[in-house]
Order: sequence, then structure tokens, then C-alpha cells
Amino acid sequence: MKKNKVYIETYGCQMNFADTEVVMGILKNKGYQITKDADDANVILLNTCSIRDNAEQRIYGRLGNLKKLKEVDSSKVIGILGCMAERLRKDLIEDKKMVDLVVGPDEYRRLPEFIDEAFAGEKGIGVKLSRTETYDDIIPFREDGLSAWISVMRGCDKFCTFCVVPYTRGRERSRSLESVVEEIETLSQKGFKEATLLGQNVNSYNDNGRDFADLLSAAASVDTSIRIRFTTSHPQDLSDKLLFTIAEHRNLCNYIHLPVQSGSNRILEGMNRTYTIEHYLDLIDRARRIIPGVSFSTDIISGFPTETYEDHIATLDVMQKVRYDGAYMFKYSPREGTKAFKIIDDVPEDVKAKRLSEIIDLQQRISYEINQEMIGKYEILLVEGFSRKSNDFLAGRTDTNKVAIFPAAEGITRGDYVKIKINRATSGTLFGNLIESVDIKGNPLTLTA
Ligand code: SAH
Ligand code: SF4
Ligand code: F3S
Repeated sequence: MKKNKVYIETYGCQMNFADTEVVMGILKNKGYQITKDADDANVILLNTCSIRDNAEQRIYGRLGNLKKLKEVDSSKVIGILGCMAERLRKDLIEDKKMVDLVVGPDEYRRLPEFIDEAFAGEKGIGVKLSRTETYDDIIPFREDGLSAWISVMRGCDKFCTFCVVPYTRGRERSRSLESVVEEIETLSQKGFKEATLLGQNVNSYNDNGRDFADLLSAAASVDTSIRIRFTTSHPQDLSDKLLFTIAEHRNLCNYIHLPVQSGSNRILEGMNRTYTIEHYLDLIDRARRIIPGVSFSTDIISGFPTETYEDHIATLDVMQKVRYDGAYMFKYSPREGTKAFKIIDDVPEDVKAKRLSEIIDLQQRISYEINQEMIGKYEILLVEGFSRKSNDFLAGRTDTNKVAIFPAAEGITRGDYVKIKINRATSGTLFGNLIESVDIKGNPLTLTA
């Protein structure tokens, strides 16, 4: 029997999800089949995340389950890909004796070789980081058909003191602008309607002097019925040129994920974030002036070492000033090997938790208020399919990345643009009535029946 069935599970950020598609592309080229059933697979891969301790604990838990499959069938190969592979390297194989294969983010081209080694009873380890690998020429295997992640750069050179990414993903490097444009052309031919350009810090994109604004503008021009999104922007490098580019193209979404992390300048300095709150707020103002209606989301860490109650209040204060549409909020988690790891993690767990819950409550209230203000307004949605709860409703996303639900109607399916009128809202979801089918600009579609 051919041992060519691979099962892969993905954890962590969107870049990891994009990498999984690259991995599947590489394996399919070598004759592997992708299966959705771990029982049925010869090779089980977990593409992992190291960002916080709880992310890693979850994966250890999962590995514990998967080992049971291996007890039943010892010929199965279990492998770790991604950031944990890079961070823990041979520990996973030697100390923890948990897996047969450990392959970091820059060694996926050699994954088929490592799998062969593992089948031959050796341990496959590939954890070298590269200064040049971008998988530029690999065609990712995508099943979705509507919305695609595209990595446009890899790695990070920012070295925020709390963060493992520069160690797990290596130095910054960008793909060529042409290869990204070609990829969007292919997506357009296949009927995709949305592409999200990804990088840990997309504003540092640089292809021989062509910057991220140049890339966005080229990407938006490929097919004006495809929505283009991007993430993540670092507040230090978000240029006015980029803001004007977003304002200029209808299909560049008016939504910026701009992690602030903390509202206190002292903590920002300790984090090596390289901006002040004044700079950050000025950037938000400029963006709102240049791109009317732009929405923002952010990341916040509570309980960074030495954070005082006053620092925490400063974070709440910034949230109130900016009024984010959404936020990802975390408790600080010390990561070995980072600079902050050397500072004592001195905010007690219960204080971290209390501050985090205040941050979450405030954000919920703000999101609720912002969404309430949308009642009575019209929005254009890209329809993604039935709502999670019922096939009587369809779900889609606004340009500003909010989920909206409306009653299903004949002739309207995934991939259509529709105009709805909002009639109800919670902090996380908008509800509305269907007005009509439209194009991406909101012009009614003329029926040609
Ligand atoms: N490149 C992105 C963030 C990538 S990690 C950026 O710079 O904004 C996603 C988020 O995880 C970070 O923004 C941060 O809020 C959070 N994070 C990273 N390391 C963390 C840690 N050690 N403890 C808690 N949260 C962390
Ligand atoms: Fe981590 Fe900072 Fe790089 Fe983001 S910018 S990936 S938080 S080091
Ligand atoms: Fe996690 Fe690695 Fe992404 S640590 S957040 S999977 S870059």
C-alpha cells in the first residue's frame, strides 16, 4: 500500500494557514493526497504556534491524543511544523520523544525528504532559517474558492521584546511584486473574490525599492471585483503614501489592523515598539482624515513586566480615544529567549487577569456602541455562505471586516456582493435586510435573464 495520505492541522496566525497551503502544494506535487481524517492518514502534521505558552500547551495536548493513533498503527509518521518546530527543535524529538519529524517554516521544500527519512525509521529534522526563502514559485493548494491568504513577506526584524516571531521566522524578506500580482491573476481566473496580503509587518515590504503601497496598488488593479485586505501593519512604518493608496482604490478595504499593545509610553519603550502613543494617535487621525470611514482593530497585551495600574489605565484611555472596531487581547506570556524574558514577570496572575477582563469589557462596550450606530445604514457585503446557526440566513462581511447576517434569498450565493440595510446589531455581528444584488461598488446588478 502506498503511504501517501497526509493529514494536517493548523494553529496560530494567518501566516501559518497560508504556509499550510504551501506545504500542501509541495506535498501534492510529490504525489501525496490530502485527507481530512487523521485515522486514515499515513502522515499527520501539526503546523504549530509558539506565540504564547497556552498556544504550545494546546499542541502538547493534541499530540497526546494523536500518539494514541500511533499506538494503534506504529507506521504512522507524526510531525511538527511551524514556529514550535523552530523554537523547540530537537527537544521535541529527543527530550519529549513525541514526534518523528520537526520541520521549521523555512524548510518546507525539503519536507518530502524528511518524511521519507521518518518512514525509514530515522528522525527528520529541518530547522534552518533562511534569508531568502519566500516560496515564491510554489503554487499553494487552496480549497476555499472565495477568499485567499497570500504571504507577501516572511520573517520579522522588529524584535519587540516580548515576541518569539523574529526567532521562529527569521529575518524579513519580501516576495517579488510580480509573483504576487500573478498569484492574484490566477485567483481572479478561478473566481476568488477576496485576497488578504500577509506579513508580520507588511509595511516593511520591499522589492527592490517597490514598497507596500506600490504592491497594494498593483494588487488592487489586477481585478477590481476582488477585495484586497492586508495584515499586519506596524504603527512605526505606516506611511501617508499607503493611506492615500487605500483611499484611492475602491477594492482596497477600509480596514487597518494596527496593534497598539499598550497605552503607556514607558511600557511601549520596554516592549521596543519604537513609537509613542502620541505618534500612534496622530497616525489614527491622519488615517481617518485620508480614508473617511476607515475602521481599526488592534492587539493589546495586559500585564507586561513592570506594568502599573497607571499604565493599565493609559491602555484603557487609548482604547477610548481610538474606539477600535475590534481587538485581540492577551495576557502577557513570558517567552524564553526573548529580551523581556530577562525582566521579572512581576505582575501577578490575578492582576493580569483582572486587567485583561477590564480591557475586554471596555472593548465589547465600544464595539457594541459602534455597531448600534450602524443601525439604519446601508452596507455592501461579500456573501460567504450560510450563517453558522441557520441555513435560513446568509452571512457576509462588510468592507470594514464586520460579519453581517441577512435572510437567505433565492439566487444569492457565496461570492455575490449584496447591499443590505442594518436593522439590529450586537458587539460582534450586524443583522440586516437584503436590499439588492450589487457589484463591489454598490451599483445594482442589471438582470440579463
Ligand atoms: N506582527 C504583529 C503581531 C504578531 S503576534 C504585530 O507586530 O503587530 C500577534 C499578537 O500576539 C501581538 O500583536 C501581541 O499582541 C501578541 N503577543 C505576542 N507575543 C506575546 C506574548 N509573549 N505574550 C502575550 N501576547 C503576545
Ligand atoms: Fe513580533 Fe513585534 Fe515582529 Fe510583530 S513586529 S511579529 S510583535 S517582533
Ligand atoms: Fe504563532 Fe508563529 Fe504566527 S508563533 S502567531 S504561528 S508567526
